[in-house]
Amino acid sequence: MQTYIGTPTSRIDGRAKVTGQAKYAGEFNVSGLAYGEVVASTIPRGRIVSIDASEALRVAGVLHVLTHENRPRMADKDTAYKDDVAPEKGSPFRPLFDARIHFSGQPIALVLAEEWEIARFAATLVRVEYQREAHVTDLSAQRPHAFIVEKPEKPRGNAAKALAAAAVRHEAEYFIPIEHHNPMELYAATATWDGGGKITVYDKTQGVQNVQRYLCGIFAMTPDDLKVVSPYVGGAFGSGLRPQYESVLAVLAARALERSVRLVLTRQQMYGLGHRPASIERLAIGASEDGILEAMTHEAIAETSQYEDFSRNDTGWSGLLYKCANTRYVHKLARLDLPTPCDMRAPGAATGVYALECAMDELAVALKVDPLELRLRSYSARDQHQDVPYTSKKLRECYREGAQAFGWDKRNPEPRSMRDGSELVGWGMATGVWEALQMKFVARIVLTANGHAEVSCATSDIGTGTYTIMAQVTADMLGLPLENVTVKLGDSTLPLAPVEGGSWTAASIANAIVKTSDKVREALWRAAKAMPNSPLAAAKLDDVRLMDGRIVDKTETGRGVSIADAMRHGGLDRVACESDPGFKADTSHARNTHSAIFAEVKIDEQLGIIRVTRVVNAVAAGRILNTKTARSQIMGGVVWGIGMALHEETLVDHTFGRIMNANIAEYHVPVNADVHDIEVIFVDEPDEIINPLGIKGVGEIGIVGTAAAIANAIYHATGKRVRDLPITLDELSA
Ligand code: MOS
Repeated sequence: MQTYIGTPTSRIDGRAKVTGQAKYAGEFNVSGLAYGEVVASTIPRGRIVSIDASEALRVAGVLHVLTHENRPRMADKDTAYKDDVAPEKGSPFRPLFDARIHFSGQPIALVLAEEWEIARFAATLVRVEYQREAHVTDLSAQRPHAFIVEKPEKPRGNAAKALAAAAVRHEAEYFIPIEHHNPMELYAATATWDGGGKITVYDKTQGVQNVQRYLCGIFAMTPDDLKVVSPYVGGAFGSGLRPQYESVLAVLAARALERSVRLVLTRQQMYGLGHRPASIERLAIGASEDGILEAMTHEAIAETSQYEDFSRNDTGWSGLLYKCANTRYVHKLARLDLPTPCDMRAPGAATGVYALECAMDELAVALKVDPLELRLRSYSARDQHQDVPYTSKKLRECYREGAQAFGWDKRNPEPRSMRDGSELVGWGMATGVWEALQMKFVARIVLTANGHAEVSCATSDIGTGTYTIMAQVTADMLGLPLENVTVKLGDSTLPLAPVEGGSWTAASIANAIVKTSDKVREALWRAAKAMPNSPLAAAKLDDVRLMDGRIVDKTETGRGVSIADAMRHGGLDRVACESDPGFKADTSHARNTHSAIFAEVKIDEQLGIIRVTRVVNAVAAGRILNTKTARSQIMGGVVWGIGMALHEETLVDHTFGRIMNANIAEYHVPVNADVHDIEVIFVDEPDEIINPLGIKGVGEIGIVGTAAAIANAIYHATGKRVRDLPITLDELSA
């Protein structure tokens, strides 16, 4: 039945991407395009006193300079600016709305010209006078003013008392700096002026319908008049979950000029978007002599902006992952004059679990227990918060298979005990955990009598492989060859989809396709039964399946009729079905993915240069739909984990309140030379509860725990514990 599901199927959009046929938001060409260039604020807080665009306007080819003073009308109310992913509390940012400056890098004017180069040049001629106000961009400076945000995880027992009574304790603070997503594709929007006031926005986004609702709210337009299209996305990692300001500016400009407009941000301007918030994570863990966890407290202090309260679950993983009777969590936010932080791959977990898993390693050292053994001693088979079973949880198998592939049993626990020539060798491990969420998606399938199916949904493919898994599931459910399936996505006019995020897309869209396929099968079954002398005359709906272009009896697959014949007899030239969006919310089980990561580092003792020479990441994430694209997801997460551990750090000059390394020359990300051997293992995790195909999703789990495994390996190699990321050679040799 399943020819494609579970196989390493190559991306069906791969050829379009490598040949340049795949068009991205800034590449859609229409005639009469005008080009926009953003002018960004150079101060972090205050007001614009005046903007003098006269010099810019004198440049030949400049059409207009839009500012808060001359822009077309935009909504006044906050609610118009709330998108699906906006924080509950706060007032979303509005580009070119008024004179207020909220952060350095804020868009404050848009120069429009006949050519992009002209716009870029003219943008340098716009003179801005500001009235500055005192700002703060330093998390530690704002720490005393941090306020508590409520989180759903409830404390258990009495953590303070149990901690005080524990035989062995570890308490420390870990720091994760601001990180930026840095997707390859720059944020861009092409707004085409379609006539009669209608606009199509080709936008870089993780959710076309989210952007459509948002723009319609801001510009008082209807979905019929404004559609959003985003067929390909060159990486986003969470930065495109909320609509970004380029979409608003492109529509503003198109309305102002009554003309099509393209706007592409520069790499530097990308640092004026959201980011992973810097956070201080304070862990305190207490254990008995024999290494059983008795108390755990996790306090996170993260930054947010002055205008919105952004936070994710940093602390709740601690009490979820291990069995521990006494737990307490505190999440605090400190306001800074920076843009509102946003989701970045495994938001909350990437940071919170980094701290937890380093703290567990430190506790293991204090207890003189093997770090893997320590985790097994407090293994939790049930969700500790809700006290319910998991739909499936093969974390034990992740530990076992990962340790075996890595050779963990050959580890000498003594720091600085392992060497390779002039290099110190360190082995570290960590656990990873993420959610296995499912959302409301609708899939439409149109099957034509020639045996071709088109499956569509407004979801995105941010590079994860959504096109491909949609085709695989459709092909298997309808019994068609993969090449007979066409996939349409990334268009707001297609059936319902939320943003592509949270690792929920694969499971959710696969469910929707299964449901839609059942309807297609039913239509074909009716047609097949009605045929004269039908071999399926007595067959019930549950008795039939679709395979090899036929509708057949499940138990006797030789008995059946061709789909083409059934459709012809039934007078159907096409069967078109849509799934209903509903699904039962079920709180009787917890849904998570898990992983065990083992890392080897080699460190030059004289120079302190760190190389991550091996990583084994063993993942339990239900049934893997596509072992090739899923492996890519985990590898990408591991590479980012290497970056998080060793390289990535957005540096703010607190005097100016401005990011100093807003480019990928000075904001370091791992390059090929930094990435060595990565082994991805998918442990067998059958799951008959979570959904019909047993799918969980793998977009984010690969990063969770990876930086901790590397940090723990660095300690093991050197005997030096660096808790603040990134771990650079100067810190190591300090
Ligand atoms: Mo992901 S951070 O939900 O795109």
